[in-house]
Amino acid sequence: MRPTALAQLRYSVEPERLEEGSFAAEVVAGLSATPKRLSPKFFYDSTGSDLFERITELPEYYPTRCELSILRERAGEIAALIPPGAALIEFGSGSSMKTRTLLDAARTLAAYVPVDISAEFLDAQADSLRREYPSIAMLPKAADFGGPFDLPEAAENMPRAGFFPGSTIGNLEPPEAAAFLRQAGRILGPGAVFVVGVDLIKDEKVLHKAYNDSAGITAAFNRNLLVRMNRELGANFDVASFEHHAFFNRELHRIEMHLASLKRQRISVCGTSVEFRAGETIHTENSYKYTADSFQCLARGTGWSPVTVWTDAKKYFSVHVLKLAGEAARRALT
Ligand code: AVJ
Repeated sequence: MRPTALAQLRYSVEPERLEEGSFAAEVVAGLSATPKRLSPKFFYDSTGSDLFERITELPEYYPTRCELSILRERAGEIAALIPPGAALIEFGSGSSMKTRTLLDAARTLAAYVPVDISAEFLDAQADSLRREYPSIAMLPKAADFGGPFDLPEAAENMPRAGFFPGSTIGNLEPPEAAAFLRQAGRILGPGAVFVVGVDLIKDEKVLHKAYNDSAGITAAFNRNLLVRMNRELGANFDVASFEHHAFFNRELHRIEMHLASLKRQRISVCGTSVEFRAGETIHTENSYKYTADSFQCLARGTGWSPVTVWTDAKKYFSVHVLKLAGEAARRALT
C-alpha cells in the first residue's frame, strides 16, 4: 500500500467521533465551511514556533522590535504602576526578552505567573527564570489563557498586574477581544493594572511588507499548516500548489492571511474529501490593527480604564496601560 493510502486509512474516522476542539475536528469543520478557514492557533507546532521566531527577526517585521523598544524605554514607569508584592500574570507566555524587561525593572514583584497551554514550555522557561530571579516566585499555570482559570494558590492574595504583549489580541475578532479583556478583568480583579501590546494602523506598504517578507519566511510559516495537516492528520496536500496571500483589509483594518489553491483540486483529510476551485483560499489568520483611540474605546467598554498609551518613535506599535477601577469595573465584573 502507498504510504499516503495507508495514512488515509489510519486517519479515516467518522467526523462525529473526532475529539471536540482537537486539530482534526477543527480542520474537518474549517475545510468543510464556506469560506474555508483554519485557526491561527494551529501555526505553532515546533516548526511553526521556530518559523515565528525567525519572523520576529526579519527586517520587515517591525512589531517585536518596536514593542521591545517601548518596553525598554518605559520599564521604569511600568514598574512604578505595579504595587510592591504583586503577582505579574502573563497571558500566553511567549517572548522571554519582553518578560525579562519587566522582571528586571519591577524589583518588588513577589511572583510571576505565565499562563500557557503548553506545560512543557512553561516548565523549561520557569526553570531558567528561577535561577535568574531568585526573589520572584515562579508559578507557571498550564491553561488556555483565553478561558476562565484559577490563579495558583500562592498568588491568590497578592495584588495583581497583567501582561499581554505581542499584539496577540489582534488575532481575535473585536467582540472576542472585548470578551477576552472582560475575562482577564475577572481574573486580575479590582485594582489591577494591565499592560497590553497592540499593533497600530499605519502606512499600508509597511503593513504589507511585514507579512510578505522578501525571504519568504512568513509564506513558509503559513504553508507549514499544510505540512502539519499532512504529517499529523494524514492529509495529502500538494504544498507547492498553494500560495501565501497576505493583504491589508482596509474596511476591517486587519491583515488577512490565506493559502490560495493555484488550481482546481481535491484533497482528503481524516476521511473527508475537500474540493478547491482554482484560486479558492483557506483563510488562516486575521491580525487586527487599531488606533490608540480605537483600542482605548474597546477597553473602556469592558470595564478597563485607560491610564496611558506609549508608542515607538515611528508610531508603528502601542503599549497600553489599563486599570480596573471604579464603577465601570464593578459593572463589568458582575
Ligand atoms: C503573533 C498574532 C501577533 O499577527 O503579526 C506574524 C502572527 N502572522 N506573521 C501577527 C504573525 C504572520 C503575529 N501575532
